[in-house]
Order: sequence, then structure tokens, then C-alpha cells
Amino acid sequence: MRIFKFEEIDSTNIYLKNLKEKKNKDVVIAKKQLSGRGRRGNKWFSNEGAALFSFLIEEDENISLQEYLKLPLIIGYSVYEALKSLEKEFDFKFKWTNDLYLKEKKISGILVEKIDNFFIVGIGVNLNNKIDEEIKEIAISLKEISKKDYEIDKFVEVVVDRSFKNLEKLKIGRWKEILEDINKINYLFGKRIKVSGIKEETSGLAGSILENGTLEVFVGNEIKRYNIGEIHIEKN
Ligand code: BTN
Repeated sequence: MRIFKFEEIDSTNIYLKNLKEKKNKDVVIAKKQLSGRGRRGNKWFSNEGAALFSFLIEEDENISLQEYLKLPLIIGYSVYEALKSLEKEFDFKFKWTNDLYLKEKKISGILVEKIDNFFIVGIGVNLNNKIDEEIKEIAISLKEISKKDYEIDKFVEVVVDRSFKNLEKLKIGRWKEILEDINKINYLFGKRIKVSGIKEETSGLAGSILENGTLEVFVGNEIKRYNIGEIHIEKN
């Protein structure tokens, strides 16, 4: 496993995208990002103290593309496990498809991109950083709650290790075990949500995450299933 470390970088995902000779498990960690990227072209606030890193997963021909649709969930679950290893008693929640929440606020976001036969997995976790005023209502850091400082490099190692172990579980047919756990911490379950960023915007009641990684949503008498989409929680 190669680890590239930077004090400052534009984006760890971009670094890996441009890396000429990519290797499975290459990891990039930065203390700060100058243009941290979130999903859907959003900016990712990247102050010092946050865990800001990306790593490569080489496509495995024994895993079908259909199975790889579960990759964001697997990575999200691995970040959950790593967070739990730091603070066992905290009530972290998994927001489909791959965000982590604590106290109704986002603590981690994940951006998975594909280039050639590699997946670039970019992860931002608010560990020791102070949350910017601009996003204080929607984001939280672990230190804010625990008043502790965490070792970022160690945390990154655990996330990467858990990710590959969980991917192996998917490969050998043990996905159901992971899914069961994810559904126990399903942040959206029972919440009224709006799904957008898809052909037809819909509102409904969120249900479970299903075997194929889709989210079920109860819309009137119908049950819809989504594998992509932006989720907004509506007030009940
Ligand atoms: C999201 O929008 O929730 C995804 C955020 C992903 C942020 C991480 S930080 C490390 C890596 N580098 C980036 O530019 N983005 C990801």
C-alpha cells in the first residue's frame, strides 16, 4: 500500500485521477484541500483537522458492475465502522447512499468516481476540524462533541482496511450481513423525503435499503426503488 501525504493539495481525488501509474490501494491524504470536491459539483469544506483522503480500488473481474453499484454503501459502512471504533457509544447514522450523520448533522461525505479500471474513493470526515459558520446548521465534527483529538492517519488506515475487507465479503456472498447492519442505522427510514436529480421528482416515505442497494420509497400506494438521486428530508 503506497501512501502519499500532502500539507496542501487541490483535491486528493484529482491527484489520484492524474496519477500516471495507479496501483490498487494507493492512498492520498491531505491536511488541507484548496478545491475539495463534493458530489454534484458541490464544494467540500476542507479545513485542517478533517480527515481528507482518497484511495484506489482496482476493478476486480470477479465482481460484476451490478455488484459494484453497492460500492458507495460498502464504503459508507466502512467509514461507519471506523467512526464506531473511535466512539463506540455515539449514535452514528447511515444516510443512503453513503453519508454519515451524527446528531442530525453530516459528519462524513464520500465521492466515488471511476477512471479506466479504477474506482477513486474520496472521503471527507469531520474529525478534529472546526465547522465553518456557513454550514454549522448542517455539519458536525466529532471533536465538537467529544472534545477529543483523533489520529487522522490511523483513522484512514482503518477505513481503507475495512473497505477492502467489506469488499471481500461482497465478493464471497456475505453482502446480506453488511446490509442488515446498514439497515439498523438507516437514517432515512420512516422519514418523509423528496428524491430529486432523477427523471421524475417524487416525495414519499423512505423505507429500507434493499438487497440490490436501492432505497425503497412509499409514494401513495406505490413502492418505488431508487439507485441514485439526491435526497431532501421534508418536514412531517
Ligand atoms: C459529498 O458531497 O458528500 C462528498 C464529499 C467528498 C469529499 C472528499 S474529501 C477527500 C476527497 N477529495 C475531494 O476533493 N473530495 C473527496
